[in-house]
Amino acid sequence: MRVKVSAPGKLMLLGEHAVVYGYPCLVTAVDKRIHVEVEKIENEKDIIDSPQVKESRFVEESINFFKKRFDITQSVKFQTNGDFSHRVGLGSSSAVTVATFKALSTIFGKNLTLRDIFDLSYQMTLKIQGVGSGFDIAAAVFGKTLYYLKGGEIIEPLLVNKLPLVVGYSGRKADTPTLIKKVASLHKKKRKKVDEIFKKMSSLVELAKAVIERQDFEKLGQLVKEDHRLLRDLEVSTAKLDRMVEAATSAGAEGAKLSGAGGGDCMIALVDEDKRSLVEKAIEEVGGEIIRTEANVEGVRVEEQ
Ligand code: MEV
Repeated sequence: MRVKVSAPGKLMLLGEHAVVYGYPCLVTAVDKRIHVEVEKIENEKDIIDSPQVKESRFVEESINFFKKRFDITQSVKFQTNGDFSHRVGLGSSSAVTVATFKALSTIFGKNLTLRDIFDLSYQMTLKIQGVGSGFDIAAAVFGKTLYYLKGGEIIEPLLVNKLPLVVGYSGRKADTPTLIKKVASLHKKKRKKVDEIFKKMSSLVELAKAVIERQDFEKLGQLVKEDHRLLRDLEVSTAKLDRMVEAATSAGAEGAKLSGAGGGDCMIALVDEDKRSLVEKAIEEVGGEIIRTEANVEGVRVEEQ
């Protein structure tokens, strides 16, 4: 018996960093997916083929954790594949962890709810990374566009029909734990200022939550622009990301911002479809790489069993 599962990557829409401190964020799942394939084998040891090097630890530890938890001695052959590189910051580690737990629970007939898969995956990410709000895990599990509070205290799917985004990769890989630590040290030094920033980010998230369901992209664009300014105040943007954001808005995007931890990875721009190619071109002209992807897609799913 063989089981194939896939889980989506994510893009943070608003509220990054503040979410680590207990404020809400908005996240959307994207149609760049991680695929895993598992089968039972009569081998003494598991065989794991995880070419996305960074992810192999997430796969190995999740398999060990699952087998221990459910008292399983049977070995498995495990293969992973990705529609995207871990370098772009679309959440390949969380997607692969979620897909691994879903694949194992399916092949071993363990009835885990989506919430169980979220909890197991979040526990695993904390064990390996030490930090993180779990928003990326929630996107990989539940898909769609979510209003989210750290640890999954709230995971609320929003009624979103479309979310027209342009995604630009800055060409530089960011290390999320390092950026979380950078913000923590700024918070220590300038607590009042940073708390103010987080509070403002949180009100933008609350406003955006309503606006996104109304499909008012002009207003959402303004909130996105404001969020980018706050992320700059938090000192997590880079000159390249700022140039890409500026290029996108000058070319007619409703709004643009860095997405994720900052320090590199991706930016997003909210666009009217008739401006899409102009905005893409503008981002490319300042050295960004366009990643074509659809937002608001389905969460983890069994593809074949
Ligand atoms: C990283 O993509 C977003 C952060 O808020 C970290 C997290 O929420 O885990 C910086």
